[in-house]
Amino acid sequence: MGWRAQATRLGGSSQLRPENGCRSLTRGVLGYAVRSDYKGVWTALSETLSSAKMHVSGTEDETVFETSGAGTAGFLLDNVGIESTDIVLEIGCGVGRVGKHLAGRCRRWIGADVSPHMLEFAAERLRDFPNVEFIELSGNDLQPLDNNSIDVVYCTVVFMHLESWDRYGYVEEAFRVLRPGGKLYVDNVNLCSDAGWSIFETHRQFPLSRRPDHITVCSTPEELREYLRRAGFEHLQSRPGEELISVWGQKPNFGNANP
Ligand SMILES: C[S@@+](CC[C@H](N)C(=O)[O-])C[C@H]1O[C@@H](n2cnc3c(N)ncnc32)[C@H](O)[C@@H]1O
Repeated sequence: MGWRAQATRLGGSSQLRPENGCRSLTRGVLGYAVRSDYKGVWTALSETLSSAKMHVSGTEDETVFETSGAGTAGFLLDNVGIESTDIVLEIGCGVGRVGKHLAGRCRRWIGADVSPHMLEFAAERLRDFPNVEFIELSGNDLQPLDNNSIDVVYCTVVFMHLESWDRYGYVEEAFRVLRPGGKLYVDNVNLCSDAGWSIFETHRQFPLSRRPDHITVCSTPEELREYLRRAGFEHLQSRPGEELISVWGQKPNFGNANP
């Protein structure tokens, strides 16, 4: 797929079509886009439900949306482990694609996102669940959440849109808000897979001046593992999929026999 076609898929909204130029809300002194204006970029990308869904998973098709959301939720339930008594936090919850399939499986599900529009759409999608809560984030911290208050934190299909410092920032913040023994899951497009490399090659064809602010930047498995290790997580596990690398780990239990 050439960069023009790719830009249309990446954009999903008329503002982001290559012929219009890519929408960059904040520009530095040299006129380059500021990718790290996450709130500006993602609030604009999620102005309508249709645009929000396109930017969450590249489709508006509700059947595909439901299937993919159930798939991610199933992976988390089977591999990371979520108990019916757990308080679960999703960083970058989008419109609640995954949350809809987890809210009924835990005590409380908290959706956190930098975009207020995404949170509104997520609240509508999860309106039948009494145990959900939504939190607007600044873009690089979990400031509204207390220390040691969450059992499981997950962040899926978000790291590709973040600068590496902010990826690590969220891992560090997850460590803070997790209770001892709590678990963190993160993923990104895997640079070391054929599918991930193909995305890397396609995206590198964007002319510099038309590179979207939210363009995917891949990770290596080592990068994600290193973030978790440096933040203090232990019992690290990784699972390379066709396109994504998934990494999860546990906050030390500090000698508590009953995590
Ligand atoms: C591709 S969507 C994925 C949404 C959801 N995790 C899912 O899998 O359906 C990326 C989400 O991350 C959010 N996001 C982008 N930058 C963020 C940041 N710095 N902090 C928190 N959320 C962010 C966007 O608003 C968007 O909802």
